[in-house]
Amino acid sequence: MDVVTIEIENVNIEALEFLEKSGKSVYPSSSVLKVIKDKGRQKMFYEGAHFPSSEFALYNSKEELIHSIHAGNLIIPFVQKSRTEGYDGKGVHVVRTTSDLENLLEGKCLAEDLVDIDKEIAVIVARNPDGEMKSFPAVEMQFHPTANLVEFLFCPSSLTQVQEKNAEDLALQVADKIEIVGLLAVEMFLAKNGDIYINEVAPRPHNSGHHTIEACVTSQYEMHLRAILDLPLGSTELIRPAVMVNLLGEPGYSGPVIYENIEKCLTMDGVYPHLYRKVETKPYRKMGHVTIVGKNLEKAKEDARYIQKILKVIS
Ligand SMILES: Nc1ncnc2c1ncn2[C@@H]1O[C@H](COP(=O)(O)OP(=O)(O)O)[C@@H](O)[C@H]1O
Ligand SMILES: [Mg+2]
Repeated sequence: MDVVTIEIENVNIEALEFLEKSGKSVYPSSSVLKVIKDKGRQKMFYEGAHFPSSEFALYNSKEELIHSIHAGNLIIPFVQKSRTEGYDGKGVHVVRTTSDLENLLEGKCLAEDLVDIDKEIAVIVARNPDGEMKSFPAVEMQFHPTANLVEFLFCPSSLTQVQEKNAEDLALQVADKIEIVGLLAVEMFLAKNGDIYINEVAPRPHNSGHHTIEACVTSQYEMHLRAILDLPLGSTELIRPAVMVNLLGEPGYSGPVIYENIEKCLTMDGVYPHLYRKVETKPYRKMGHVTIVGKNLEKAKEDARYIQKILKVIS
């Protein structure tokens, strides 16, 4: 191989360093991965570069964190995060009251200020070895009105033009500063006071870019290849509004997977299921996603809600 890339941060960094030393191009580089796979080092990077991100402190254990509360140095509410190996909300614990302290995460962690979130957004940036960059239109995560779950992602977002521009500029600045080659997905919070904060970044194709296959001129996957192969980057223009729904294993079902009503979904215009070929389902296991494109966002959302209602991952 002349060029090596990754699709998950949790890989053997020493092996990548060995490949780099032997003259292979590794994108993203081992040094970028080292910063990103540790949420503590990520936060230190934002702080050092003066990027807006919530205030934080690092701890070696939950005992050390509790000690800091007793000493008056850490104030509830806060968000505790494991420094490594968290994903999909595993490794994140929101402490709103003292009773939440009972379920603190073990191991090396950080605590950061709880942001009063108005909207959760993400911008994916592609950057090639020459430093040429392109950003995709911002995506918004919509939470279920009662259950505290991401219901779907949609694009375009409901940000104002100014907010969208600020979010894109910030994402581009982060990608440039960290010198990513490939994709950088930048998750951000728009706070109720109007400020934008960086939450975290991922150095690879990302959940918030799944819709780009059907909805953008160039998909995030093609962009990743263009970027790491040092080719000109394609257009990120949104061709049509899109909604993305995650397909999670239905609670109460474990075993060989069945996608109930998937044929019905395929008869709908603009509906594209993507199944991950996992053999067994488990409650809330991410089994795939469905992208819905429409003439307008409202129609796409309506179809997405219908699909959520009828398409069930059972066994
Ligand atoms: N500082 C914060 N304030 C408020 N909510 C937060 C904060 N950090 C994380 N969250 C919530 O927790 C979710 C998961 O956190 P994140 O760090 O993105 O972990 P993961 O690696 O699981 O995606 C976020 O999408 C957001 O809803
Ligand atoms: Mg996240």
